[in-house]
Amino acid sequence: MIKRNHMMTSKSVRKALLGLATVSVLALPLLAHPAQASGGAATPHTQNWSFAGVFGRFDKAQLKRGLQVYREVCSACHGLKRVAFRTLAEPGGPEMSIEAVKALAKEYEVQDGPDDEGEMYTRTALLSDYFPSPYPNDNAARASNNGALPPDLSIITKARGYLRGFPNWFFDLFTGYQETGVDYLYALLTGYEEEAPEGFVLNDGMNFNHYFSGNQIAMPAPLSDEGVEYADGTKATVKQMAKDVSAFLMWTAEPTLEQRKRIGFQVILFILLFAGMMYFTTKRLWRGVKH
Ligand code: HEC
Repeated sequence: MIKRNHMMTSKSVRKALLGLATVSVLALPLLAHPAQASGGAATPHTQNWSFAGVFGRFDKAQLKRGLQVYREVCSACHGLKRVAFRTLAEPGGPEMSIEAVKALAKEYEVQDGPDDEGEMYTRTALLSDYFPSPYPNDNAARASNNGALPPDLSIITKARGYLRGFPNWFFDLFTGYQETGVDYLYALLTGYEEEAPEGFVLNDGMNFNHYFSGNQIAMPAPLSDEGVEYADGTKATVKQMAKDVSAFLMWTAEPTLEQRKRIGFQVILFILLFAGMMYFTTKRLWRGVKH
């Protein structure tokens, strides 16, 4: 009788624990979402990214094209202050040759100092330098952009996102969908309308965008067909450039994505093998013992 009681309690404890675990797993996505688009903004669509999923990898040619779009278009207003030139040559990124990156860095000037006289000076950038920002400070940036601040783009794809809604968020738990930020960026860059819909009051100097919170944004549509001439001959449509620069900004935000996914997979594999071994070991140890 006592024994039975004991078994029942451990069973109900187990049930309670299982219930708790289920509830916390289901509640996870509520905690895990960054800033949400709101204020009448449309929900971005899920795009097909080469770096999504457990085995996701960056498309190196795409990263190179995205870098070109950033350099020729976005860098006029946006900095990339957390990205060092040297990383462009490292594994898991655009993987340019070190000579090409050196040549690229040479095109930039950075501030250094103070020198022996205590003065700051500018010099040609080296591999170890970071992309210089287009404006000396935030006030200068605002003054040139109708009062709005163009944010630094180094980690923008991690700072934005949207709720994917049921049932997607549930499956995302298993597939590890982490591309809402980059989906949003693509949507933003392709979401401009030349004229605001009738009845929509657009403030002076603002532009209509379906995906920006409040539907009006100070950034003018940055991309137009053939806006860049791709070094690899790819046709530079707005969608193509938006996709490439979004992928590139995913890499700047997470330069070790490939490494993380590879190690994650190895760890899971190890845990599964280890769990299997432990199962059979336990079974063997307890064989013949009445319990
Ligand atoms: C002429 C200047 C200019 C150019 C060129 C430009 N932007 Fe912007 N961008 C801005 C300004 C200004 C804002 C702030 C908008 C606001 O707050 O209304 C902004 C905001 C953004 C944001 C933040 C949106 C949000 O959700 O807050 C992203 C992302 C962005 N730009 C990406 C890009 C990319 C990628 C490019 C290149 C393809 C680019 N921008 C080119 C001026 C520019």
